[in-house]
Amino acid sequence: IFKICLMAIIAYLLGSIPWGLWIGQVFYHKDIRKLGSGNIGTTNTLRVLGPKAGVTVLFLDMFKGTLAACQPYFFHCSQTVSPLLIGLFAVLGHTCSIFDHFHGGKAVATSAGILLAYNPLLFLVAWAIYLTVLLLTSMASAAGMVGITAIFIIALCIHDWILAAIAGFLTVVIIWLHRANIKRIFNGTESLVHFGLGYRR
Ligand code: G3P
Repeated sequence: IFKICLMAIIAYLLGSIPWGLWIGQVFYHKDIRKLGSGNIGTTNTLRVLGPKAGVTVLFLDMFKGTLAACQPYFFHCSQTVSPLLIGLFAVLGHTCSIFDHFHGGKAVATSAGILLAYNPLLFLVAWAIYLTVLLLTSMASAAGMVGITAIFIIALCIHDWILAAIAGFLTVVIIWLHRANIKRIFNGTESLVHFGLGYRR
């Protein structure tokens, strides 16, 4: 139990690192919480700071989830403690960051990161679905919500009940965190990615 608590705390602290916010403040002297959608995730970093910062934050936000979820492998207890469960604490840190007054991002990149630690093949499937929806709609928010929902459905189909439980929970969390985006999608005012990797709206 001590090991589980330690891994959960480390995961929470790793997940709490607000890369988008810090990179914006240190390298661009901008507070992305006050610009664009105000979110500190990959999409708003790309929107406000450009492709270099956006791609960097995507990898760092994903990687913190992967690293956190890999702990049960490092501590040789992945048979008894699910990497997905420990990864959830990284997602909690990402959305309720101790370094950002318990605010944070919308959980998409960090969730993808924990999926990478758990099942790299499903991670690639999730990415393929994400990119397809992104190409079809130009909306990162829609791509994230469809991506996590698809993973939940796939988990049910392959009878992976732990993944189904965690992906189901994350689907609800991610849709809830995107409620303002959902309103904008229905209003027709959601910002659109254009594939020079910037934003149209
Ligand atoms: O992962 C966040 C993305 O889905 C939406 O971000 O900045 O458009 O609210 P944003």
